[in-house]
Amino acid sequence: MAMEFRPPKPMLLMIYVAIFSVFAASAKGGRTNYPIFIFGDSTMDVGTNNLVDNCSARADHPYYGIDYPGHQATGRFSNGLNTADTIVQLLGGYERSPLPYLALVEGGSNFTRGILNGVNFASGGAGLVKGVGLSLYGQVVSMEEQVQQFATVRGNISALLGGSKGERFLRKSMYIFSIGSNDIMEYMIFTKPMTPEQFVINITDTYAIHLKNLYSMGARKFGIISIPPLGCCPIARGFAGGNCANDTNTLSRACHDSFEVMLENMSSTLKGFKYSIANTYNMTMTIITSKFGFKDVVSACCAEKTPQGQGDCKEGVPLCEKRDDYLFWDVFHPSQKASQLAASTLVSSQDPNFISPINFGSLRKA
Ligand SMILES: *[C@@H]1O[C@H](CO)[C@@H](O)[C@H](O)[C@H]1NC(C)=O
Ligand SMILES: *[C@@H]1O[C@H](CO)[C@@H](O)[C@H](O)[C@H]1NC(C)=O
Ligand SMILES: *[C@@H]1O[C@H](CO)[C@@H](O)[C@H](O)[C@H]1NC(C)=O
Ligand SMILES: *[C@@H]1O[C@H](CO)[C@@H](O)[C@H](O)[C@H]1NC(C)=O
Ligand SMILES: *[C@@H]1O[C@H](CO)[C@@H](O)[C@H](O)[C@H]1NC(C)=O
Ligand SMILES: *[C@@H]1O[C@H](CO)[C@@H](O)[C@H](O)[C@H]1NC(C)=O
Ligand SMILES: *[C@@H]1O[C@H](CO)[C@@H](O)[C@H](O)[C@H]1NC(C)=O
Repeated sequence: MAMEFRPPKPMLLMIYVAIFSVFAASAKGGRTNYPIFIFGDSTMDVGTNNLVDNCSARADHPYYGIDYPGHQATGRFSNGLNTADTIVQLLGGYERSPLPYLALVEGGSNFTRGILNGVNFASGGAGLVKGVGLSLYGQVVSMEEQVQQFATVRGNISALLGGSKGERFLRKSMYIFSIGSNDIMEYMIFTKPMTPEQFVINITDTYAIHLKNLYSMGARKFGIISIPPLGCCPIARGFAGGNCANDTNTLSRACHDSFEVMLENMSSTLKGFKYSIANTYNMTMTIITSKFGFKDVVSACCAEKTPQGQGDCKEGVPLCEKRDDYLFWDVFHPSQKASQLAASTLVSSQDPNFISPINFGSLRKA
């Protein structure tokens, strides 16, 4: 394309800038606009469960979303944006999380355009092991089903872009996971079919199966957000006399350590497998110890009063005034502020206590 050299009119300048940025980006080989696919539980759900029949794990009612644009309760388990949103924002190219798979399916004609921008499969209440969430919430989209939904999307992308272009697209895309907490919660609540050691092996092996399935479908860049200190969330403290529940925290830590070993092993056995694992246990414990600007790191901002302490977040229950002062929005989930802090750490921190072997920002560019 020949371009005359004369002072460009604003329109021409805009076109020039647009073309130049495309070339500049591809010249560096650092195209960053490949999409992000998200798997997980309520920490990542951006509206999946609104579309799941008979599912009671929902955040589509006030005061959820009180700080979201338009005060909309979108299904995010947060006062505003959740961790899926804050991570993709910082990774760049997104204003918030890609849309839920089920919403794209319902959107019909928008499906094709949607999937090229990434998909969020996460479902509140879901676990790594199939069946987790069902007895507590009726119906959720298990990790296995999320992977099956991805298989459909992969087929659609391949049909759209063609085989080898589709494969390159999926290889360059990033896959983010935040799941496992519900497995641990259920293990702690219900009668135990196995020892803690067997349990850790079981969910690690289950995780590995899901990741290998995705690898075999062409995924290469795996960003894993591991288990936070679940024993310190307000609901668990309620049952431990206000302290962090040590046994739950011990199990959370053991799962993180085991996931880390599994991922290291996978990267040395599967060609091209790249990963980053976020130590949310350490991140959250550091916030609980050092506050980092939060005024309350113990109780939930939005929760009804219960004999144990705090319960559901819904309209009419006590609500704190300054949401940004709280680590916890409800009895399970971080506030938007806490999600932003977590996202900035895992996207760009160099501290191996928090993120290793590389951060999410480097993984995306890898
Ligand atoms: C498709 O996308 C357009 C533009 O974003 C939106 O206005 C429309 O409501 C979407 N259609 C469906 C069925 O979701
Ligand atoms: C709905 O959930 C309840 C448990 O909350 C379960 O007993 C029932 O079988 C579920 N129904 C369907 C159609 O999934
Ligand atoms: C996506 O793939 C599924 C399964 O192959 C198919 O049923 C569906 O029609 C495809 N969607 C589009 C929009 O091509
Ligand atoms: C994990 O335990 C469940 C029973 O809770 C079992 O069905 C499943 O096969 C086990 N998975 C692995 C990988 O061992
Ligand atoms: C839990 O751990 C804390 C700190 O290590 C300790 O002070 C406390 O006694 C422990 N509680 C129980 C019930 O083991
Ligand atoms: C590493 O992975 C291989 C192949 O998947 C497996 O056979 C082996 O048991 C794993 N080792 C560890 C320490 O997990
Ligand atoms: C973070 O994790 C490492 C290794 O898992 C541990 O040695 C260290 O003490 C932890 N730091 C904090 C602040 O929890």
